Amino acid sequence: MKKILTGLQPTGNITLGNYIGAIKQMKELQNMYDSYIFVADLHAITVPQERENLRKNTYNLLALYLACGIDPNKNTIFLQSENIYHTNLSWILECNTYYGELSRMTQFKDKSKKNVNFTTGLLTYPILMASDILLYDIDYVPVGQDQKQHLELTRDLAERFNKKYGDTFKIPEPYISKTGTKIMDLVNPTIKMSKSNENKKGIICLLDDIDLVRKKIMSATTDSDMIIKYDPENKPGISNLINIYSSLTDKTIDEVEKEFINKNYGEFKKAVSDVVVKLLSQIQNEYQKYVNSELIDNILQKGIEKTLIEAKKKYEDVKNKVGFIR
Ligand code: TYM
Repeated sequence: MKKILTGLQPTGNITLGNYIGAIKQMKELQNMYDSYIFVADLHAITVPQERENLRKNTYNLLALYLACGIDPNKNTIFLQSENIYHTNLSWILECNTYYGELSRMTQFKDKSKKNVNFTTGLLTYPILMASDILLYDIDYVPVGQDQKQHLELTRDLAERFNKKYGDTFKIPEPYISKTGTKIMDLVNPTIKMSKSNENKKGIICLLDDIDLVRKKIMSATTDSDMIIKYDPENKPGISNLINIYSSLTDKTIDEVEKEFINKNYGEFKKAVSDVVVKLLSQIQNEYQKYVNSELIDNILQKGIEKTLIEAKKKYEDVKNKVGFIR
């Protein structure tokens, strides 16, 4: 059976972008693939974190996975920081990665601009991500568009290692859905919807108050031509709403354009709010069942037992090929 894997950082509120880019895809694919989903808590500390916040956000993210329909019987769910082989492999891969490859990464360039005192972890972050994937012989990695470059690096590192040391790693492919690739900010639809965006009116978090969500969507930035047409370059606001609607209803962009052919922006925004609110209400109801539940620790225990065995096997193979004697 082919394998899929993804991870999300537990850095505060999970957005609709995270849901559409990663979680929704996992939920759909979990029935067809051997599925792994983890909490990328090691990645979270590439920027400063408060201890209590990190702990809380980690539990909340796990509860949210379950609330979104990630089935613990169909997924291996685990914590990145608990599996030592991720960082161990990362070091070996670091020694096979060029500084130039890392400093070219768009996300590094963006994030390092925001803080002059950025950490080395922010630079080496994609190598840890490569380890997360390469340890498990993963076929597909469901992610949003913003992670595509990191996936390309993962492939390059795997190919380089295989060439130098013999066939070791499976070459993974990104799995990026057509419509949900990049959900944009509602206030400024030329930037990605991200937890860290300053204006919170532009981002929808899965646990946001439902009335607030409606307001945010109804006041999303659009344009003045009053045509509901997909054109990301000239109509970024409307195109973003079309993307959200198309992704959540599983309708194609063409179908969405046809559905709203003679409708105005107010009617369209109302329809988008309806589908988003319906989804969020369901998630929030479920979330109450899982947050603070013992189930989470049981799931993590199962997950770590399984992934330690699998990751160790791959890591031992790597160690041996590199020349470590025991
Ligand atoms: P993170 O936590 O930044 O984001 C989690 C997932 O959400 C997707 N995403 C989006 N998709 C569509 N529109 C958006 N506006 C949007 N914002 C975020 C991201 O593409 C991602 O899929 N490095 C990763 C975590 C990670 C990982 C991995 C992922 C660590 N190791 C191995 C896959 C495989 C990250 O920081 O994601």
